[in-house]
Amino acid sequence: MTSPPITIRRATTQDAAAFARIIGHPDVLPGLMQLPYATEERWKAMLTESQALGKLDLQLVAEWPSINGAARVVGTAGLHPAGTALRRRHVMTIGLAVAADAQGQGVGRALMQALCDYADQWGQVLRLELHVYADNARAIALYRSLGFVQEGLHRGYALRAGHYVDSLSMARLHPSPPGIAAWETA
Ligand SMILES: CC(C)(COP(=O)(O)OP(=O)(O)OC[C@H]1O[C@@H](n2cnc3c(N)ncnc32)[C@H](O)[C@@H]1OP(=O)(O)O)[C@@H](O)C(=O)NCCC(=O)NCCS
Repeated sequence: MTSPPITIRRATTQDAAAFARIIGHPDVLPGLMQLPYATEERWKAMLTESQALGKLDLQLVAEWPSINGAARVVGTAGLHPAGTALRRRHVMTIGLAVAADAQGQGVGRALMQALCDYADQWGQVLRLELHVYADNARAIALYRSLGFVQEGLHRGYALRAGHYVDSLSMARLHPSPPGIAAWETA
């Protein structure tokens, strides 16, 4: 079966309900650092803040066409500054979630590819960082295939559904950092 075509665009506050639906799903939430009982209003507040003019965050959504013509949001991905320290301005962190019924059909890869392209070609990013639970084989395989390498193992990193679980820290350095073109004289 062929997967539906994927469209990637920047998220807006109108996507808050989709964020709550996708990220709150019991098959998605345990892979993330989120908490249960999030609401559309909370996601709207997060999107309003992260998408405000001057903020450096990039929040993307992936859409599939639906039968009635309206697109359906099936995944979200975010690129966020690693902090406010001047000397870490070249670093950004990543978050990723795909709707439970859309997983395994290329949506995560398309979102990650878009984030990496933006970071490499537009975002002045030399280092991408992320944390992934050590038992999340699908996410780890995806990140490895895009050039992320494991840098650390964090024991008992976070409480997940009543158990402290390990995480891996992974990072990807810019494969070909941009330079300044040589000055051409006539
Ligand atoms: C992890 C997640 C984002 C991946 O997105 P996805 O759309 O399901 O992944 P894709 O279909 O794009 O597959 C990406 C790669 O995963 C790998 N993969 C797929 N299923 C796998 C499995 N069961 N085990 C191991 N690797 C697997 C494949 O290498 C695939 O690469 P391919 O394009 O060469 O086939 C998604 O499953 C998800 O949202 N999970 C819940 C939330 C989560 O864990 N987020 C990540 C937080 S760090």
